[in-house]
Amino acid sequence: MPAAIELNHYALDQLPDIRSALVDVYAEVYADQLEDPFFSVERFEERLNGHASRPGWEAVVGYADGQVIGYAYASPLPAESRWWAGMLEPLPEEDTAEDGARTLALFELMVRKPWRGTGNAQLIHEDLLSGRSEERVTLLVEPTHPRVKALYERWGYKHVGDQQPFPDAPVYATMLRHLR
Ligand SMILES: CC(C)(COP(=O)(O)OP(=O)(O)OC[C@H]1O[C@@H](n2cnc3c(N)ncnc32)[C@H](O)[C@@H]1OP(=O)(O)O)[C@@H](O)C(=O)NCCC(=O)NCCS
Repeated sequence: MPAAIELNHYALDQLPDIRSALVDVYAEVYADQLEDPFFSVERFEERLNGHASRPGWEAVVGYADGQVIGYAYASPLPAESRWWAGMLEPLPEEDTAEDGARTLALFELMVRKPWRGTGNAQLIHEDLLSGRSEERVTLLVEPTHPRVKALYERWGYKHVGDQQPFPDAPVYATMLRHLR
């Protein structure tokens, strides 16, 4: 039975304190994919810089015995967000209008292998969402990972279409969950 974990929240000004831990866990969790330029550590850091340039960025990091076991981070879609513009099948405008406070984008959720299947990923995820004021949350999942997609569906997300956020990125299933 794994030890209970501690969950800590970090705002944008605290990113320097956890940045190297976020990068190290990414490199461990995505070790098999790092050769793919899109999944390289360098590109992960570029994406992190972009996501963390937005107001409202927040991370929740789980710890057991002082070691990071996994984390999630998110930031709200800005009013001028391109998130929905990349949908392969456009969605109705009322579903895609952003004002900087409507939709939280969950950019990363990852847990180190020994801590998978323990419910801690869900704890980290729900802890991040519980303090947020946005009305909905969106994330991208690789359709080649149907079990992860099924997990998100169990957590209340619905598949609303597909998008390819960068030319060398996979075509991702776009998931949406209402928060209130
Ligand atoms: C996603 C994650 C945080 C979920 O953790 P969890 O709630 O403990 O759930 P599990 O690890 O048991 O995974 C749930 C299912 O997805 C599958 N799965 C998890 N990661 C996967 C991956 N990278 N590729 C393919 N399948 C994967 C598991 O085999 C499991 O299948 P099962 O339900 O048939 O047992 C964790 O699996 C993880 O860190 N994965 C690697 C990073 C990742 O893919 N993040 C999601 C990006 S959208």
